[in-house]
Amino acid sequence: MAQAGMQELLKKTLAENKDIVPSDPLFLHNGELYPTMICCPETLKILDTFETRSDDVILVGYPKTGTNWVGQILVELEAASGKYDEEERRKRSMRQRERELSLFPYLEFGDPAKFERMKQLPSRRVIKTHLAPQRLPKSIFQKKAKILVLFRNPKDTAVSYLHFANGLKLLPTPKTWDEFFSDFIKGKVPWGLYLDHIIEWNKYLDDKNVMFITYEQIKENAALEIKRMAEFFDFTVNEQEIQSIVEKTSFKTMKDEASETNEGIGKFLFRKGVVGDWKNVFSEDQNKEMDRKFEESVAKTKLGMMMKYDVYCQY
Ligand code: A3P
Repeated sequence: MAQAGMQELLKKTLAENKDIVPSDPLFLHNGELYPTMICCPETLKILDTFETRSDDVILVGYPKTGTNWVGQILVELEAASGKYDEEERRKRSMRQRERELSLFPYLEFGDPAKFERMKQLPSRRVIKTHLAPQRLPKSIFQKKAKILVLFRNPKDTAVSYLHFANGLKLLPTPKTWDEFFSDFIKGKVPWGLYLDHIIEWNKYLDDKNVMFITYEQIKENAALEIKRMAEFFDFTVNEQEIQSIVEKTSFKTMKDEASETNEGIGKFLFRKGVVGDWKNVFSEDQNKEMDRKFEESVAKTKLGMMMKYDVYCQY
């Protein structure tokens, strides 16, 4: 769903589920933190009842890695590949359908009855989630749905996360950068330690239904990466359609559209959209700490190397 109506939906869902939603801004489920404002323990408990379709288009990305951007690219690819006429396109509009069905745009958000309502979405569904692979519903792997896994350099991800968490009041109190960095590096934030997600995904390197991509790769050559996404998901699109998707999903276009329709969330979802903003924020000690953690845990793994830490996370 676009940002339009999202706050309204949040309020409604929280009111409906007041008996099962904890009063703290964060709650623990299976050892991981989630924000009460958008997630609900009951939904997480029954996540495994979600019925994947083999043609579902699954996008997985830790918060603030660019999931709204890539999600929109996939929605556009599905629409272009479907060659729907104008009316069909309007009827099938993911945004429209999600609004009608009161669906939050991420699998683990919202009320427990959502999985039943999701059955009404027409194929191919584009499904986004921030969950680490071991927490995904089993049916995603059983049905062999294709999964695109998105990463972003951890320094920009952390900076983006702070703005978002403070902006949306996801945390118990607004955090300073220093406080947030200290939580982020320990994984004491919703969806846990980012580096752990990367480590876990290294177990899926040989799975041909999983494709890895980085925010930075798309920033460098969106057309090329959109083409790779289309091939992976078997979307049939021509060069002209790819070019049109590049334009429709540019930072400016998405930000402008969000500011026309949203109720305040857009400015946190579409903040700067650049690579390297961390250089304005990280202290020397924080830099060293992140470099050390990355080196210790991820740097020598295949996915760690794919992230080009030396290029994007060094001065
Ligand atoms: P910044 O806060 O660094 O600007 P997510 O969608 O996973 O919440 O990620 C949000 C980040 O992606 C934000 O980063 C946001 O600006 C950036 N983003 C969103 N749309 C984008 C686009 N079309 N192009 C580039 N970056 C985009």
